[in-house]
Amino acid sequence: MVEELAVESTSKPVQRLNTQSLTDIPYQKDDRLSVGIKELDRVLGGGLVRGSLILLGGDPGIGKSTLMMQLSGLITDRGSRVLYVSGEESAYQIRVRAERLGIIGEGIQLIAGTELEAILDCAGQQKPDLMIVDSIQAVYSSKLTSAPGSVAQVRECGASLMHFAKDREVTTVLIGHVTKYGLIAGPKTLEHIVDTVLYFEGERTQQYRIIRTIKNRFGSTNEIGVFEMTATGLQEVPNPSSLFISHTEAPGSAVVSIIEGSRPLLVEVQALTSPTYFNYPQRIATGVDHKRLSMLLAVLERRAGISVYAQDCFVNVVGGIKVMETSTDLGIIIAIASSVRDKPIPRDMVVIGEVGLGGEVRPVFGLDSRLKEAENLGFKTAMIARNESSKMTYGLNIIDITEVREAVGHAFNQ
Ligand code: TYD
Ligand code: MG
Repeated sequence: MVEELAVESTSKPVQRLNTQSLTDIPYQKDDRLSVGIKELDRVLGGGLVRGSLILLGGDPGIGKSTLMMQLSGLITDRGSRVLYVSGEESAYQIRVRAERLGIIGEGIQLIAGTELEAILDCAGQQKPDLMIVDSIQAVYSSKLTSAPGSVAQVRECGASLMHFAKDREVTTVLIGHVTKYGLIAGPKTLEHIVDTVLYFEGERTQQYRIIRTIKNRFGSTNEIGVFEMTATGLQEVPNPSSLFISHTEAPGSAVVSIIEGSRPLLVEVQALTSPTYFNYPQRIATGVDHKRLSMLLAVLERRAGISVYAQDCFVNVVGGIKVMETSTDLGIIIAIASSVRDKPIPRDMVVIGEVGLGGEVRPVFGLDSRLKEAENLGFKTAMIARNESSKMTYGLNIIDITEVREAVGHAFNQ
């Protein structure tokens, strides 16, 4: 049950609306405030748009407050003014964090409070360039009687903050915890009213964090920014492919390419096969779709003549990232074949291609940017599907193939 605010029905005269010519509306190109963290600027579509409302969601403890404090530090250094509203931590705790992050903090004003009306009142007087509300679940409106963090409160506070951001042209970031019980009263409740939705992902036990754009009225979606959590805060990782490649020489690994937003990433897939002792062989996939793996194993068996029916098969993606792109099919097949044959493939080879049930290898989108990334990272050879764009020149030795059997042959130099 959700409490709704009762609306008094007053019989006011109907408002008159006027039309405006689109071209009469003042427009300033690139009215954006660059953050100064390249990875964050990218996910924002080039910086903070004035008067926009941004939602930053993520699990508790992932680093949302840390990132926003770092951002505050950077933009206040360049003369902007930030209002940091903390409903969860005391002013002292925030000072401790800022100290740890080496932030001077002149130009950052703090409010340790949770009542929305009081916060808006104060923010209206301060007129900051950026307001950060940490977190939306901690603030409450005194107009409602339900508890802070309930759906009704989150919705009401989100809507009021949106009006405030638009009317006063104060860029506002709402931090939202993804709650254990899924999406109720979490950031999802607000996704439709905000301009930009960013999610902070990653395993708390692992160092790297990925920030992902889910929605952006001022830029493209599916962009990612990669960070590493260090003792002195979040550091951007300008070359994230290096995180997802292990450089082992063992058989059973292949480097594949995925595209996240506009960014190509090279990722290592590892496979291990071993004779099964049960009636049903095990197929365990981490970071790879389970059904896709079964399909690829069948293709390998029937179209490439590599026997896997009596083998347990484990597939894992280095770095804990998930690959859901069909462009990784061929790489997964090569990795498994490499494990079955117990022969490594060249370490400087990247494998790109989608595989069909007939064993045919098909071209994938964005080949140019994938090959460029491989070249930049020092790869020497690329195995790709035979198609038009492979005639372009790269600093890579291109092996173009049409079938899985041919691919396996080339990978092991037969
Ligand atoms: P925090 O930003 O408080 O997470 P959130 O606001 O998303 O709940 O940071 C969470 C973790 O980050 C915390 O467990 C400690 C760690 N951390 C570092 O490793 N280095 C640092 O410099 C800081 C400030 C935090
Ligand atoms: Mg926090």
